[in-house]
Amino acid sequence: MTVLKRYWRSFRQETKTMADYAFERINTVDSTNTELKRRINASFGMKTSVLIADEQTAGRGRRGRVWLNTDGALLMSICIPLKGINPDLIPLISLTAAIAANEAIADLRADKHKMTRNTGIKWPNDILISGFKVAGILSEAANDLRGGSYAVVGIGINVNAAGIPDGLNQPASSLRLLYNRDFDRISLGLRIADRLTELADMLKAGCDKTIIKLYSDNCITLGRAVEVIRNDGSRYEAEAVEIDSIGRLVVSHEDGNIEAIDSADVSIRWLTEERQEN
Ligand code: BTN
Repeated sequence: MTVLKRYWRSFRQETKTMADYAFERINTVDSTNTELKRRINASFGMKTSVLIADEQTAGRGRRGRVWLNTDGALLMSICIPLKGINPDLIPLISLTAAIAANEAIADLRADKHKMTRNTGIKWPNDILISGFKVAGILSEAANDLRGGSYAVVGIGINVNAAGIPDGLNQPASSLRLLYNRDFDRISLGLRIADRLTELADMLKAGCDKTIIKLYSDNCITLGRAVEVIRNDGSRYEAEAVEIDSIGRLVVSHEDGNIEAIDSADVSIRWLTEERQEN
């Protein structure tokens, strides 16, 4: 048995998880999302699979951005077969990933480190600790050779970096910089994968309201004044009110009008002391 398989087995026994998915760790890849999409595209069907890489040479972020490597980062993607999920609820997969990542990061703090820090989700799916982005999520779609559909959810977490690259579009940090110690990124990744598969099963079972509630309870955008920036560059100010049934951010305009905005069409900035581009 390889060291990794032994580690995997003992981790699973320790955490008593029941999640059922394939798991692979690789050294270097262009992007874990791109690699999983390639595998799906070339397959006649894939089960839920988790791919963790030590390094990416072409990591991708949302809105066509580059995702820069930091030392000791968790770089993972999960392929989730969408069969059995109501098509209207598929946009919520990306929210489930944010819930899973946020819970796992918040648990690290609660279980192993007594420092109090505010961990939360910035809509749609950045994880912030005390105003610093520590994790981002890129959700994409893929099809197998039989036409089966999948979500490929990529999660990047700055875990053990002693420094953060310059020139990022918003204040960022790492778990190590914030908590002054290293973390086991593989067990963090497996925790997220376990929870994400559980939440995806809940979506299949039609528990979308529970997902929206879990997300909203941890979404630190809600209640804030925000600047909404459309893809064409036009901007307006509004207040973030709630998350709707398909994961859009509902904002209230100054004149009282309500609008539901889609993360594909806009980015948002907070109009508070923590000004962050999304
Ligand atoms: C964002 O905040 O813009 C999303 C960043 C997502 C980065 C992760 S790292 C693992 C996976 N592979 C990629 O190429 N991107 C995602």
